[in-house]
Amino acid sequence: VNFASDNTTGAAPEIAAALARANQDAHAMPYGNDPLTKRLTAKFSRLFEREVAVFPIATGTAANVLGLSLSVPPYGGIFCLESSHIYEDECGAAEMYTGGARPLPLPGRDGKLLAPELAKALSLYKPGNVHRVQPAAVSITQIGELGHIYSPGEIARLAKLAKRHGLVVHMDGARFANAVAALGCRPADITWRAGVDILTFGGTKNGCFGTEAVIVFDKAKAASFAYRRKRAGHLFSKMRFLSAQLDAYIDKGLWLALAGHANAMMRRLANGLARLPDVELNHMPRGNLVFLNMPAAMVRALEKAGYAFYHWGNARWHTARLVTAFSTDPGHVDGFVATARAASSGRKPKQPMAFLPRP
Ligand SMILES: Cc1ncc(COP(=O)(O)O)c(C=O)c1O
Repeated sequence: VNFASDNTTGAAPEIAAALARANQDAHAMPYGNDPLTKRLTAKFSRLFEREVAVFPIATGTAANVLGLSLSVPPYGGIFCLESSHIYEDECGAAEMYTGGARPLPLPGRDGKLLAPELAKALSLYKPGNVHRVQPAAVSITQIGELGHIYSPGEIARLAKLAKRHGLVVHMDGARFANAVAALGCRPADITWRAGVDILTFGGTKNGCFGTEAVIVFDKAKAASFAYRRKRAGHLFSKMRFLSAQLDAYIDKGLWLALAGHANAMMRRLANGLARLPDVELNHMPRGNLVFLNMPAAMVRALEKAGYAFYHWGNARWHTARLVTAFSTDPGHVDGFVATARAASSGRKPKQPMAFLPRP
């Protein structure tokens, strides 16, 4: 049983069926000139309540950095959280795809990059100083890498400040569906209506085999994307198979139903674990991701019982990351909680546990 990540899953049956249907056509024109890809623009424009440009991309990393490369010059700076995927987990892709721009890691509050932190950073990175990278973008992740969710107001305040300083606003939405499902908002409310310019719309972690979409809200700004994507080796000749996944994913609210299940499973898991005095959650999650501290003996008991998850620590306690998914079985959640409860000491640890940095 696996709580390591939402990309340890397979794909939702509806997505598998859509791929099989796409495969029934013996031939279709390549490089996105097929009917499935062509209709994505209209479908995503309906979903976001405005005309958007849509580009299927197979990995989240490529989607993030190709999106950023649209507006960030080689001498630009990209404000982001120090825990952000673009800074910590993309192996310098942002630098490479922008021709040299630099992510500028900032401390967050509750796992989020909010307007006050950005304001402070902007006061240090004044444009026009030839010795420094020039502020060009701010990138936030929804839901955040530590599991927190930005409210529409938080995004709007950050974006307003960003716009005042001429920054483009990018959102890494690898788990965008989980945020929309948790907030119960319209996709537009936490994107362009709040000031987001470019979105990585995630699919892989929530039921697709492997596809994301870059959404550019101002179509005029997307003009160079096609060339950047081809040059980066991300223009799939059989693009219809990426598009078929996205098409089925946003059809009839499937993406939100899948994310709603993942979120509900996380609520169930977190509610069960929060009752144990020797387990400490980093927040009460509304999405599908949480970090927690637990005694090393509890980790051992869970692993022995067959539960897989990421954790790191010392002889006394470990910090762990738990992620639920569209396919998480409630019985597995209950089993995890019951195993943790059986291994619990039933009291608070004498010395406090602290969240340990990921190795
Ligand atoms: C916050 C976030 N952004 C983006 C990604 C996309 O990564 P990949 O390039 O592996 O698809 C991930 C995957 O782990 C993620 O957690």
